[in-house]
Amino acid sequence: MRVAVLVSGSGSNLQALIDTMDADPHFGAEIVAVIADREGIRALDRAAAAGLPSEVVTWPGAARRDEFTAAICDTAERHDAGALVLAGFMRILSREAIARFPDRIVNVHPALLPAFPGAHAVRDALAHGVKVTGVTVHFVDAEVDNGPIISQQAVSIRPDDDEASLSDRLHAVEHELLPGAVKALAHGRLAVDGRRVTWTPE
Ligand code: GRF
Repeated sequence: MRVAVLVSGSGSNLQALIDTMDADPHFGAEIVAVIADREGIRALDRAAAAGLPSEVVTWPGAARRDEFTAAICDTAERHDAGALVLAGFMRILSREAIARFPDRIVNVHPALLPAFPGAHAVRDALAHGVKVTGVTVHFVDAEVDNGPIISQQAVSIRPDDDEASLSDRLHAVEHELLPGAVKALAHGRLAVDGRRVTWTPE
């Protein structure tokens, strides 16, 4: 499965995918492009260090979301990618992306959806005082942080946690869960039926 990884920040999830691709001969997914919404981010340095082609499609503002989405999809298709992995990609794509990559867009979110959607999931979980949060990997649909759930893992919140310490533990879980989900998708092991995703045995 040829994958374009979309990034906006530090790219630690991109790194986890690169490391898995290098370490696991049965991964089944190949990162063919890294696409960023801005210049100057660490994720682009990671792509360069791994020798991966990268592209920047600069976010033009919400009024031009459709145009941005089309440019992202065009860029991915130019690299012959059959799936998109949103690895810390902080932009919302329009419906065109779902139409062009049906059940082929995966996102990782640092909370147990449907709790705490949005860009501040870790802060929101701490502010709410929940004792358990976690990580969700899901297919992207037309709503934000809403699509069918591929995998989830809980992470306990400690009394002395702040956003940084909790984010560190969530990241460690993300770095296991996301490559696992991408591998399953690459091997055709994820069956989507409405909201439910079934993992077929290896
Ligand atoms: C991750 O916590 C991810 O869940 C969220 O953005 C963060 C990206 O981290 N969507 P990184 O850029 O992969 O280090």
